[in-house]
Amino acid sequence: MASDAVVSYPSINPERIPKHVAIIMDGNGRWAKQQGHMRIFGHKHGVNAVRNTLEFAAEIGIEYVTLYAFSTENWSRPEREINALMQLLVDTIEKELPNLMKNNIRLKTIGNIHQLPARCARQLKETEEATANNNRTTLILALSYSGRWDIIEAVKKIATSAKNGDINIEDISEETLNKALNTAAYPNPDLLIRTSGEMRISNFLLWEIAYSEIHFTSVLWPDFRKEHFLQAVMDYQSRERRFGKTSEQLIPKEKGASEE
Ligand code: FPP
Repeated sequence: MASDAVVSYPSINPERIPKHVAIIMDGNGRWAKQQGHMRIFGHKHGVNAVRNTLEFAAEIGIEYVTLYAFSTENWSRPEREINALMQLLVDTIEKELPNLMKNNIRLKTIGNIHQLPARCARQLKETEEATANNNRTTLILALSYSGRWDIIEAVKKIATSAKNGDINIEDISEETLNKALNTAAYPNPDLLIRTSGEMRISNFLLWEIAYSEIHFTSVLWPDFRKEHFLQAVMDYQSRERRFGKTSEQLIPKEKGASEE
């Protein structure tokens, strides 16, 4: 509810809370190195940032948060790091269930979940079921995910439908692709945040971020806290979202409106 945001964070405009925030959580390895530790130390501390982020999102009424937790390309990292990340994922999801319930957060996933170790897929499924009735914020974990992978999978589905005569090629539209993507059930992100000072998209939600506002911060992911998320939301609220129109065409009501 917007009213909670007004009380706790007076600098936020409760009428323009982003509906969907996507985050590229970057900088765990560098953070660990700075402290003289192995990379996994950074990932473990990254969990505190995840908890903080979700609490803030639920607090101010952000409906969807998508976290880029493991990309298709991350499979080429050293096996030791992959195994440690998968174990961290299982442990975290299990341990964080009470917090998800307390904050009324529902868990969902996007990506090639079948590629994950069986224990990971099982833990995700169990937690999805346990949180299915939560309705404050939806946490979408992108795992074994990349934007190009999802687009290719969607194109395969559409091509199969065309081949089977279920769809005419002339009828293929943006909507057709929207519906074929892993993200079909969710609105496009209003705001994309990337931590660690890197300024690129790294194959994340390529189709969906066409009109997202982008906020880059130099903060390394394990240090990311509510105050940094608040900065990102304030930055978002200062932008004029035109969706290709001119500034003059936007009547005040439309200025804050979500694309959907
Ligand atoms: C990128 O930092 C981070 C990852 C590839 C993994 C993110 C995982 C977590 C935050 C832990 C668990 C998360 C959940 C949702 C349970 P990097 O390793 O690329 O850092 P670097 O660029 O400094 O090397």
